[in-house]
Order: sequence, then C-alpha cells, then structure tokens
Amino acid sequence: MERKDIVDSELEFKDRMLSLGLARVSEAAAIAAFLQIGRGDQKEADQVAVDAMRTQLNMLDIKGVVVIGEGERDEAPMLYIGEEVGQGWGRDGSPEVDIALDPLEGTTLTAKGMPNALAVIALGPRGSMLHAPDVYMEKLAIGPGVPRGVVDLEQDPADNVREFAKAKGLTPRDVTVCVLERPRHEDMIEKVRATDASIILITDGDVAGVIHCAASDHTGIDMYMGSGGAPEGVLAAAALKSMGGQLQGRLTFRNDDERGRAAKAGITDLNRKYEIEDMVRNDVIFAATGVTNGSIVQGARRIGDRLETETILMRSATGSVRRIKYSRKLKDQ
Ligand code: FBP
Repeated sequence: MERKDIVDSELEFKDRMLSLGLARVSEAAAIAAFLQIGRGDQKEADQVAVDAMRTQLNMLDIKGVVVIGEGERDEAPMLYIGEEVGQGWGRDGSPEVDIALDPLEGTTLTAKGMPNALAVIALGPRGSMLHAPDVYMEKLAIGPGVPRGVVDLEQDPADNVREFAKAKGLTPRDVTVCVLERPRHEDMIEKVRATDASIILITDGDVAGVIHCAASDHTGIDMYMGSGGAPEGVLAAAALKSMGGQLQGRLTFRNDDERGRAAKAGITDLNRKYEIEDMVRNDVIFAATGVTNGSIVQGARRIGDRLETETILMRSATGSVRRIKYSRKLKDQ
C-alpha cells in the first residue's frame, strides 16, 4: 500500500468513527432539551442543550473550533464562535476540524411543544464551512433531481414555482412551498399563492424547513423560500450536501452593525449568492436529533422507563444517510 493510500485510509477511518461520535453529541443535546418541552422557557431549553452538547463535544478526539455557534465570545459563555473544543488540543494526531452547531434549533418550538425542533451539528476539516455572521440570509431550496438553473434567487418567486413545476412535469397546483411565517414574507407568499401552489407556513425552524425539500416524498414539501438565520443556512447546506438538492443563499443586512458582523467574519462581497459548495467547501459530517416530533426525525420520547431518540446522520464523502435510534434508561440521566 502506498503512503498516500495509508494516509487517506487513516483520514477516512477517523471521519467514519467521528460520525458516530457526532451522533452522540446531538443525541445528548436533544435529550437535555426533551426535558424542557412544553415548559414555556426557551432560554432554559437552549441552555441545557448547549451544556449537554458541549460536554459531549469535549469527549471527542478532535482539535475542534466552533465556527458557527451560540454567538460571539462576549455574548455566549459556551460554544461561542472561536471556542476550542475536543480532547485533541495539546496532543498530536487529532484531526483539526471546524464545527457548526445549533444545540437547539427551535427554542420556541420546544418551549411551546410544537413540531420540528432539532439538535443540529456539522463537522468538517478546518476551513470547510462559511463563517456565516448572525444576520439574515435569503434562502431558496429544492430537493434532488432538478437541473441547476431551473430555480434561482434572482428569479421572481412565482417564476421559481412555475419553472420548478415544469421541470418536474407538474402544474404549480401540485407544488408545496415551505415558508417561515413572518411579516417580511407577506409579498412573497402572495406571489406564490397566485400561482396556485400551496404553502406550508412554519413558525420557526428553517433548518428543518430546508431539509424537508430533500425528502419531499416523506414530507410533502418541494421548495423552501424566504429569509432566516444565515448560520442556519450553512447547517442546512451541510445536510443537503449529503442528501442532494440545491440551496442558494444571500446575506441581507438591516444596518451597519450587521454589515460589520460580515466584515468581522471575513466576508467582503456582501451581495454574493452562495450555493451549497460555497457554504460547505469540503466533505462534512452532519447529525440532527429530533427534540419534538417532525417529518424528518421523530422527537425524543419516553417509552416505559426508557428514553428514545432518533438521529439522522450523514456523511457527504459518500452521500450516506443513516437513521439511528438510541434508547437509554431514564434513571441514568
Ligand atoms: P431559535 O432556535 O434561535 O429560536 O431560531 C429559530 C429560527 O426560526 C430559525 O430556524 C430561523 O432561521 C430563525 O429563527 C428566523 O429568525 P426570526 O425569528 O428572527 O425570523
């Protein structure tokens, strides 16, 4: 075996082993958040998920840096952007990785006991993911099987629906679009409704909203449109890198403070349109565990004296998508 093959297989081995570790990380956050479902306290729900995720992350044999996290160092005591995590620091041989995470994507969904809250994390080699600032990102996503160029952020939302329908051999009436219910989306919703397409409005959770497009047979959702968090855009891109499909994003800025955040993150072209490969530039692994029930993964739940979670775990190098059911005795918590 040549040296290069040995090195490649070592890296491959670590990548494969790390993916199981990553599932443990999102499971831990989801289990912690599960105990906060329906308790009306989104801050507490987020905090316990952050604590649990950080504890598990610090057990992995990595030299990890959080590139998408809970905020800047001065505003987030844990899992802040730039935080070093993992056991590999100060040792030789541990992979140097970047981490994008959202320990609880859907804090309000959890506090109110509503569907589609997830614990989410993506991990890849250093420099693999866009350091998205905490601003909004306009997003447009569809699942696999449609040529590039059929839909585009530059195109009117109604044209995107019509062109998508045409490419799929459908009529716009057969198309379902997922949109965050926000006043800023009222015009877009009107335009999409005028095509005869149906719209599923969600109150929160656009990582799930985008992922739904890549599993439309399951979820009934064909397209995702509208603006949500830019960090969530990168996490969704990491998922679609394995599942297939297209996601375009463009950062939007409301003021100079937000433009300053982009500058701090090293972004110079403020109008750039990002595709998946611009947001996730190398192979990554991605894990999402259900907190509340959703169409992609079931929420965490009690079964007798056990607690069960479902995780979707993906590796973009091979496009593999696994579902992992995990259960443990409640008294072990
Ligand atoms: P949290 O989990 O932080 O509550 O965020 C949920 C979320 O709905 C995201 O999925 C979405 O990208 C973003 O908030 C939308 O932001 P806004 O509520 O400001 O429209």
